[in-house]
Amino acid sequence: MNLTLKVWRQNGPDDKGHMETHPIEGVSPDMSFLEMIDMLNDQIIRAGGDPIAFDHDCREGICGMCSMFINGEAHGPGRGVTTCQLHMRSFKDGDTIAIEPWRASAFPVIKDLTVDRSAFDRIIQAGGYVSVNTSGNTIDANAILVPKVQADEAFSSATCIGCGACVASCKNASAMLFVSAKVSQFALLPQGQPERESRVLRMVEQMDKEGFGNCTNTGACEVECPKGIDLSNIARMNRDFLKSSAKSEN
Ligand code: SF4
Ligand code: FES
Repeated sequence: MNLTLKVWRQNGPDDKGHMETHPIEGVSPDMSFLEMIDMLNDQIIRAGGDPIAFDHDCREGICGMCSMFINGEAHGPGRGVTTCQLHMRSFKDGDTIAIEPWRASAFPVIKDLTVDRSAFDRIIQAGGYVSVNTSGNTIDANAILVPKVQADEAFSSATCIGCGACVASCKNASAMLFVSAKVSQFALLPQGQPERESRVLRMVEQMDKEGFGNCTNTGACEVECPKGIDLSNIARMNRDFLKSSAKSEN
């Protein structure tokens, strides 16, 4: 396949950035999208240029690093896949493909397609954990029975890989789908109950501090989420947040 790639180049958060055009030849339809960018970078390096910076790690849909907009869609045209799981057979010979970073003020561009998603880490640090007594009297986790339906639901929420596609696809740059998945994975399990109220308050407070927008129920996040995280997580978080806020005011 021969393609024309239009790639966003930006030297840092303060650089204005621009689109750069690169023709590329001999792309195999069986290559992953990231392998195609590797090929392009080889071509750029051979010509003495500066390779395109992009995030990637596992290349199997687990780590959530390969964040980019492809032809205006988070992770490209496929549904339920990350960029590393997208194959070039999803495109046609002769296509022009635009590749851009996530666009959200809470995710500043570090370089080219790489953005700073440490805001997500700070939200997790604010409450995305369970405190466990490690004094030697810890109860074995398997001793706490969890109904299968609840375990499955918690597992679905826990499949969020923190990629940020939900934020990037949202017109408000809201992080509600991500935060609600992280709140829900604990709220649905007995182990998450002791800190359930303080957790949701702290995580939402940190989310607001980071500058993410509010949810207006547009649903773009759910459509673009590679892990199919459900909007019902947001409803659960909102209920928990209201209940916990009311209690903390009393
Ligand atoms: S909710 Fe989906 S889109 Fe958002 S960070 Fe998690 S996996 Fe990515
Ligand atoms: S590189 Fe890990 S999810 Fe794509």
